Amino acid sequence: MSTLIRAGVVGATGYTGFELVRLLWSHPHVELVFAVSRNEAGKSLADLYATPLHVPLAAIDEADVSAVDVLFLCVPHGAAQDWAVQGLEASTVVIDLSADHRLRDPAAYRHWYGHDHQAPSLLDEAVYGLTEWAREALPAARLIANPGCYPTSILLALAPLLRAGLLDGVTVIADSKSGVSGAGRTPKLSSLFVEVNENLKPYNIGHVHRHVAEIEQLCQLLSDGHPPAHLIFSPHLLPVSRGILSTIYVPWPDGWREGELRALYAEAYANEPFIWLLPPGQTATLAHTVHTNRCAISLHPVPDQGHLIVVSTIDNLVKGAAGQAVQNMNVRFGLDETSGLAP
Ligand SMILES: NC(=O)c1ccc[n+]([C@@H]2O[C@H](COP(=O)([O-])OP(=O)(O)OC[C@H]3O[C@@H](n4cnc5c(N)ncnc54)[C@H](OP(=O)(O)O)[C@@H]3O)[C@@H](O)[C@H]2O)c1
Repeated sequence: MSTLIRAGVVGATGYTGFELVRLLWSHPHVELVFAVSRNEAGKSLADLYATPLHVPLAAIDEADVSAVDVLFLCVPHGAAQDWAVQGLEASTVVIDLSADHRLRDPAAYRHWYGHDHQAPSLLDEAVYGLTEWAREALPAARLIANPGCYPTSILLALAPLLRAGLLDGVTVIADSKSGVSGAGRTPKLSSLFVEVNENLKPYNIGHVHRHVAEIEQLCQLLSDGHPPAHLIFSPHLLPVSRGILSTIYVPWPDGWREGELRALYAEAYANEPFIWLLPPGQTATLAHTVHTNRCAISLHPVPDQGHLIVVSTIDNLVKGAAGQAVQNMNVRFGLDETSGLAP
């Protein structure tokens, strides 16, 4: 592809926005046209982060969404809706990293996010961009809802089982740990060093974290209407900067042997540049994936106790956010899917 894709980023000073700007800056087929900040306009990213990237930060009214081919939204949920409408009205492809367009049902959005969606008709149109399982829909998408970080780690780990109908009616327990960058750069008491350091804190355990909604929605779709009956999701705050590790417990599928389950995963993820299926005896850890767009998956059979344990790790800011957004852009615009993303 010879012409450059013109990109704009809103929320460039946040953790996902900065990660995205770094990726786009070195992407061989992208021209970064603007990076928006409400509070830091006029400065450069190099004034805010320990980076030599002198990317100028533009004010909101300096961002011409009709001047770009793709608009990335790296803002809190609730703040992305207006930008998405503006982008679509200007015929710009919108990739929303927030949760604003992940749920298809406006009532579900209201239930989980506590307010009405401003443009509910867009919810049905948005393509949920779990790239490995969305390639058919992405090339025609106007609006791509980039998945949440926890859901990316959990859904990539479960997808082969869901597709094979092996989780129909069962209970799935997902126990996940996330680095503190998952909470964003906006200061919060719960993210302060002293609150987090040398601690491991469960939060929103059970079936109350907002990511439950998109995990269940995708379980329904990937299983063709035969999802698990119950999902227990227990996130934890881990005192590292980045990375997510999910340990997922599912009932051992009746009549299946270990080799057959391993073959199911190997077949589902054959030739996937960013899925790293580990061989028997190895366990996925944060070190397998931080600072990359990979998802590492290891299978741990416990058939005599009636369970399969799947361990999955990602970098929450890369495969869980900015990297997957670039991967989705690559598929949307017909580029090599790994372009700008070291495998
Ligand atoms: N952190 C993760 O691991 C992760 C992973 C997946 C998805 N996400 C989602 O990605 C989005 C960004 O997350 P983040 O972690 O990068 O958050 P963050 O570090 O807090 O950054 C968000 C940025 O958005 C800008 N912003 C805030 N309110 C805004 C508004 N009303 N209108 C326009 N811009 C606004 C702010 O920049 P200025 O004040 O400079 O404008 C802020 O720096 C969130 O929706 C989050 O849920 C995060």
